[in-house]
Amino acid sequence: MNIIQAENYQQMSELAAKKLIEQINSKSDSVLGLATGSTPEGLYEEIIKAHKEGNVSFKDVTTFNLDEYVGLSKDNDQSYYYYMHKLLFDHIDLKDNQANLPNGDAEDLQEECSRYEASIQQAGGIDIQILGIGLNGHIGFNEPGTPFSIQTHIVDLDASTRNANARFFDSIDEVPLQAITMGIDSIMQTKQIILLVSGSKKAEALEKLVNGPVTEDFPASILQKHPNVTIIADREALAELSQ
Ligand code: PGA
Repeated sequence: MNIIQAENYQQMSELAAKKLIEQINSKSDSVLGLATGSTPEGLYEEIIKAHKEGNVSFKDVTTFNLDEYVGLSKDNDQSYYYYMHKLLFDHIDLKDNQANLPNGDAEDLQEECSRYEASIQQAGGIDIQILGIGLNGHIGFNEPGTPFSIQTHIVDLDASTRNANARFFDSIDEVPLQAITMGIDSIMQTKQIILLVSGSKKAEALEKLVNGPVTEDFPASILQKHPNVTIIADREALAELSQ
C-alpha cells in the first residue's frame, strides 16, 4: 500500500482530485467508482473547480457509486442519488445515463443487486475507486462480518453506522435500516483504489487497516491484499500509524 500524507483535509482533497483528473486525462472513457459521506466532499469541490477551469471533462466517463440506502426515493435529500447530484453531477458534464447508483427503491432488490454488478462488468470494470472508511472498518456499507467473497448485496446497517450517519437526518429513527452496497469482492476487483481518511476520529481505524490482521471482522483490512491501493490521509488520521 502506498501512503501519502496530507497536511490537512484540504490538501487530502486536492491530492485525490489530482489523481482522478490525471486518470481521466490519460483515459477519457475511464470508469470511476465513487463514494459518499463527509470525506469526499472536498474532493468533489476540487473536481468541479477543475472542470469549470477547463482542466477536465467527464463527457466519456462512466461512474458507479458504492452504495445507496434502501427505501429512500431519488428526491429524498438523504439519498446518495441526491447527494451525488447536488455535490458533483449537476456541476460537471457527466452524462446522466453514465452516472450509476444502485436503486435502493427498486421493487426487487435482489434483482437490482445482480443488475448493478452486471453493469459494472459490462462497463469493463472500475479503473479507479474512491473509498472512505467507517469507524468500524466498513468500506462501502460492508459491515463487520461480511464475507470477503460477496458482490453487490443488501445489508442490514450496523447500529454504529446508523448512529454515525444520524447526523445527516432529523433523528436516528429516520436512518434507513438497510442499504445496497458493492461487495468486498466487487471492490477488490477494481483496478486501483484511493482511500481517503481525515481526522483523529479515524486514526485507530486506519492503523488497524494497515497493520491489523486481515479479517472479515474488520472489512477494510482486505485492502492489504489489493495490488494497487493509495491511501491519502491527513496528519490527524495518520497519528496512530506514525507512533
Ligand atoms: P464519512 O463516512 O466519510 O462520512 O466519515 C465514511 C464511511 O462511513 O465509509
